[in-house]
Amino acid sequence: MDNKTVIEMKHFLSMNDLTKEEIELILDKAIELKRNPHEYSHALNDKTLLMLFEKPSLRTRVSFEVGMEQLGGHAIFYSIDDSPLGKKESIHDFSKTSSRMVNMIMARVFKHSDLVEIAKYSDVPVINALSDYEHPCQVLADILTMKEAGKLSPRMKLAYFGDGNNNVTHSLMFAAAIMGFEICVACPEGSEYEPWERVVEGCDVLSHGSGGRVNVTHDIGEAIAGADVVVTDSWMSYHIPHEKEAERVQTFMPYQVNEALMARAKPDAIFMNCLPAMRGMEQTAGVIDGPQSVVFDEAENRLHVQKAVMLYLDSLC
Ligand code: CP
Ligand code: NVA
Repeated sequence: MDNKTVIEMKHFLSMNDLTKEEIELILDKAIELKRNPHEYSHALNDKTLLMLFEKPSLRTRVSFEVGMEQLGGHAIFYSIDDSPLGKKESIHDFSKTSSRMVNMIMARVFKHSDLVEIAKYSDVPVINALSDYEHPCQVLADILTMKEAGKLSPRMKLAYFGDGNNNVTHSLMFAAAIMGFEICVACPEGSEYEPWERVVEGCDVLSHGSGGRVNVTHDIGEAIAGADVVVTDSWMSYHIPHEKEAERVQTFMPYQVNEALMARAKPDAIFMNCLPAMRGMEQTAGVIDGPQSVVFDEAENRLHVQKAVMLYLDSLC
């Protein structure tokens, strides 16, 4: 990489960084990549992805690493534990140094503001692999899974249950507002459990143009009525301290996705969870291991959709 100034480098930090048209383009490419992976086996020849992790991962690490390899490129796993970042090195110096050596950076961080700062100083595209604010790669895979299941349409209703103050929830809300479908988030009352105000406000603005309907409720009956897609996520996200667990189980239990709740959705509704999942917590074993569950299609789709994201960002460089 040289040191030239890149005008308006395209990063993928939020669902909001993509238009509806760009999301559709990425989904179409992901479907093509899934059908014909070998046609793209040299598409990112000699390209390198740096993968910075401040938190654990199975799906994100494996899907990006395998994806890069399948495209002819190379991925470097870089744990924060091995890094001087934040201790002996600034984000500025991390971004500038990495930009001289790799073609793309993906990062899983605690604070979204750190990701924004990495992107600010990076001369190569930066991808959000999960922050406290959003998990947009996950939600692109979720939309692909909904599309494959024949659910994705302006008439679709997605019902989300559980933690509203959550990266996946925020990205799903933005997806509904951009793509123009309905989402109803059912979560406990209180700012610790509800989506961020700035997400709700952002979705209101986006929904005006798209026909999206983004609602937050504490009433599970309101959320589940007429749902085509039922989604939940961990009550114990990576950043939640152990001492909060007992209290959170009690708070979230009324929002558990169980067989009785699924029976109130449309009969052909699908069930999704980005994983990792705990049976008996955010959903019962009967739901996640039952016939309506598409959680492993959803996990696999991380691979295809992220290959499409990397090709798209690379094409803009
Ligand atoms: N869904 C997801 O991002 O999983 P990992 O935490 O295993 O990467
Ligand atoms: N909300 C979860 C997603 C895990 C992939 C977390 O932040 O841990």
